[in-house]
Amino acid sequence: MSYEFAWLDYRNSVAAGAGDYLKKIACTGFEIASEADKNILFSAEQELMRAAKEINGQQSTVLKDEVTSEGISVVLSDAPGLKTGGFKIMITGPKITIEASDASGILYGVFRAITLIRTGKTSDGQIAESPASPIRMLDHWDNPDGSIERGYSGRSFFFKNDHLYVDDRTREYARLVASVGINAVAINNVNVNDIATGLVSGYDRKELTEIAKIFGDYGIKLYISLNFASPMSLGATDTADPLDSKVAQWWKEAADGLYRDIPELGGFLVKADSEGRPGPFSYDRTHADGANMLARALAPHNGLLIWRCFVYNCQQDWRDHTMDRARACYDNFIGLDGQFDDNVILQIKNGPMDFQVREPVSPLFGGLKKTNMMVEFQIAQEYTGQQRDICYLIPMFKQVLDFKTYNGDGEGVLCDIVTGKGSKQTCGMVAVSNTGDDPNWTGHDLAGANLYGFGRLAFNPALTSEEIADEWSRLTFCNDDTVADGVTKMLMMSWPTYEKYTSPLGIGWMISPGHHYGPDIEGYEFSPWGTYHRSDRNGLGVERGKTGTKMIDQYNEPVRSLYESIETCPDELVLFFHRLSYDHVLKSGKTVIEHIYDSHFEGVQDVNEMIGIWRSLADKVDGVRFGRVNDRLDGQLMNAREWRDRINTYYYRHSGVPDKQGRKIY
Ligand code: GCU
Repeated sequence: MSYEFAWLDYRNSVAAGAGDYLKKIACTGFEIASEADKNILFSAEQELMRAAKEINGQQSTVLKDEVTSEGISVVLSDAPGLKTGGFKIMITGPKITIEASDASGILYGVFRAITLIRTGKTSDGQIAESPASPIRMLDHWDNPDGSIERGYSGRSFFFKNDHLYVDDRTREYARLVASVGINAVAINNVNVNDIATGLVSGYDRKELTEIAKIFGDYGIKLYISLNFASPMSLGATDTADPLDSKVAQWWKEAADGLYRDIPELGGFLVKADSEGRPGPFSYDRTHADGANMLARALAPHNGLLIWRCFVYNCQQDWRDHTMDRARACYDNFIGLDGQFDDNVILQIKNGPMDFQVREPVSPLFGGLKKTNMMVEFQIAQEYTGQQRDICYLIPMFKQVLDFKTYNGDGEGVLCDIVTGKGSKQTCGMVAVSNTGDDPNWTGHDLAGANLYGFGRLAFNPALTSEEIADEWSRLTFCNDDTVADGVTKMLMMSWPTYEKYTSPLGIGWMISPGHHYGPDIEGYEFSPWGTYHRSDRNGLGVERGKTGTKMIDQYNEPVRSLYESIETCPDELVLFFHRLSYDHVLKSGKTVIEHIYDSHFEGVQDVNEMIGIWRSLADKVDGVRFGRVNDRLDGQLMNAREWRDRINTYYYRHSGVPDKQGRKIY
């Protein structure tokens, strides 16, 4: 399928004079680089040439080891004070100098400089930036048959017909995500099927090697999701017991073979003992036993083992009110703190449940003190509109990163834990990817802001959501203030809007079972998945405080007390933590039932407002993309109405409380 270039289409309108900088390009110091780094430097040079060609309509030549008084000068040298991937950009009149001390720093500096030029941010001055998060990763849930689990933007461009697939788009993908600083990518689904199991032992090795090489040209390390029971599934052993020496030997040989072909491989990603996947529990072993065994196979090659903490009982009895899925992640891992090898990183979902529109931060971040951690976000919008409804998630991610965990001496802000400012330096941020082979990569054009924004945020968490949205809009649509302001407004409204018309006050899980789009209030109420709201005529919510499941005790003080007391618990999370009656008065001054009605009516109004903003941009955005977004907005309005009317009707029927304002409830 043909594809567009998202925010890297340099033919879009740019700031006046942008092209002048690209008439002369000089590169210095590149010859000292290693072979692998030379490839990254080559990508950087190519990028400048492409920008010159697309912006000026003509080629520029790259001058080697010449100092120019104007244009772009790229210098690889021992620039002090920069971390790996860091760069400095100095702008003086007609000259821009990009300096870094490693190849990826040069590449990121070049992408950054092109952005500054395109958006006209070229007044004299200097910027120095180093990536905050050491690992900035995308996890693709792509299956060998080309389908994508929770994929809402077409089919996989990594797999087709049970094989890996490499073409121009592979390189365009690497270029796209490297432009926002992504440096690690897992290409296959964490739910590893039989074919993907073979990837560790030779299946499609030629293509795997090619992909790793293309990624390497853009400073990206390839990761493979693996099946914990691979040696057994492939018939090599009759057990997957991590303490069995035959099993450990099999993994050692598999890792040695992989690294022989792909020396730059990042490592493995594992979902074990989760939603039916095999894992160490089957052998009465711990997750530390399982992870360390794999990590030891990777250690001689400096590989990393990323182990997911999404472990819970998905065979729960809904009648059992003592069991609480929200406790599971913490309960399964807290006792293992300090037992993981140095090259193991635990990948923890941002919340204790599963990527809902509103959840508290996972208490595990505040519990573990001697373990490497990564935060796992999901830009695929599984539960937040599936790239059909707009939901710009960067403001949510920023709230998560700003969360104070109190896991040490100080506040232990989550961002510090995942950017190496805490006690552990091996850490990072990961997002479940939202790409597919749709021409625009992300299904909904505006969902591109989540892909762009996640990368930018992992590189520089100090950026505001508005800055990211504005920049993304200028690069993607055109460098126009009205468009950038309108798009930024829509994006900034979108998460609160989605929250308003879906499930209220942090309660979550009112989505249609299976595909998870659209409302089904009791869809998961009598199921084994542990996702209940227990609404009845008296009220709604699961009590997770001292009189309930005590999940709140998993937080450190003062967070624990804040959530325990209904008086201090923030409104937006109050139904996550507490069971309340319909007439309970929230801090907002509204009762719970009034809040439910009001927020659902407001949510639909907000969608109408977004439609108005978009339509006002009709003659400033190209017709194809204008029409695509317009169509999706029509769908979003219908969806929002459906949510509003079902939820309001459901709670009216349960509570019997009429809407004070007499609005239509069915
Ligand atoms: C959710 C999602 C699954 C996915 C799982 C995971 O439950 O619905 O499709 O496999 O998360 O994160 O592993």
